[in-house]
Amino acid sequence: APRVFSGIKPSGGLTLGNYLGAIKRFVEMQGGDFETIFCVVDLHAITVWQDPEELKRATREVAAGYLASGIDPEKSILFNQSRVSAHAELGWLFNCVARVGWMNRMTQFKEKAGKNAEKQSLGLYAYPSLMAADILAYHATHVPVGDDQKQHVELTRDIAAKFNHDYGVDFFPLTTPVIEGPAMRVMNLRDGTKKMSKSGESDMERINMTDDADTIAKKFKKARTDPAPLPESLDGLKDRPEAKNLVDIYAGLSGMSAEQVIAEHGGAGWGQFKPALADLAVEKLAPISSEMARLMDDPAEIDRIMARGAERARAIADPIVSKTSELMGLLR
Ligand code: TYM
Repeated sequence: APRVFSGIKPSGGLTLGNYLGAIKRFVEMQGGDFETIFCVVDLHAITVWQDPEELKRATREVAAGYLASGIDPEKSILFNQSRVSAHAELGWLFNCVARVGWMNRMTQFKEKAGKNAEKQSLGLYAYPSLMAADILAYHATHVPVGDDQKQHVELTRDIAAKFNHDYGVDFFPLTTPVIEGPAMRVMNLRDGTKKMSKSGESDMERINMTDDADTIAKKFKKARTDPAPLPESLDGLKDRPEAKNLVDIYAGLSGMSAEQVIAEHGGAGWGQFKPALADLAVEKLAPISSEMARLMDDPAEIDRIMARGAERARAIADPIVSKTSELMGLLR
């Protein structure tokens, strides 16, 4: 059966990029042909230093973000990664399958480590191997992600193929990354060549899922753009990264294509389009952020939901990891 797995790191608050590139699409896939499994990947978060109390809070907040956006713990399995030991266990087994050269090609590590690769944790380097374990512990066939995670899902396929080849089996599926829609790479509001991320220096660069209406309006108002109005056709967005980004965000939030947004708003100046975009963002995000705040008032309930999700996750992942160990010749 087709099975979806995806994850979000609890390192800092959720952004509009996480919403449009991931959560919104997870909700759309739920309840259809797929079995859906969604994870708060706390083991990935600790590849860089996290304050322990803040990590607990952020883990619950990501869970609240999933729930408030419409992930239903009856329809999907929702849990935090560290509660299911299969992830760490299969991650180790995959460390022995993946090659150092493969890790060296990962652009996300290079970006995060910068010139300081030697000072990073070994976990940050092996991060993609654990991500492959997340996915393959469930034999997930489809992984919805934003564009920045494409390379990691491709590496997951490489690991699956090498394992199958080395042990002469057809055990792990070759997972398909699902990267569809207008807002698969939401950019920084102050620099349209950089990705919007949880960890950028200035809060003005990003929309947080928990921002209030005034903050959202202010951030879009101050968002960098060139002076020209919106073009009359999609072609006119070429070499205008900031303009393209705001059109893509509008498309992602409204459910329209970028083409439809241009058909409707082509020729408009920023003084017109930015307030319309802010209103749309508030309309979509305000109900989610107020529900997140309500859920965060009852952390015990969030923990109960994730503990139950973890039980269901273990029921799928444990037999797959046992079988993997057996195929590798480990006595158990
Ligand atoms: P993370 O926590 O950085 O982001 C979670 C999801 O949000 C997407 N995303 C974006 N999409 C569009 N525009 C953006 N600016 C933007 N920023 C983030 C990401 O592509 C991702 O889909 N390594 C993953 C977490 C992970 C995972 C997995 C994902 C761990 N194991 C297994 C899928 C399957 C990460 O750091 O995502």
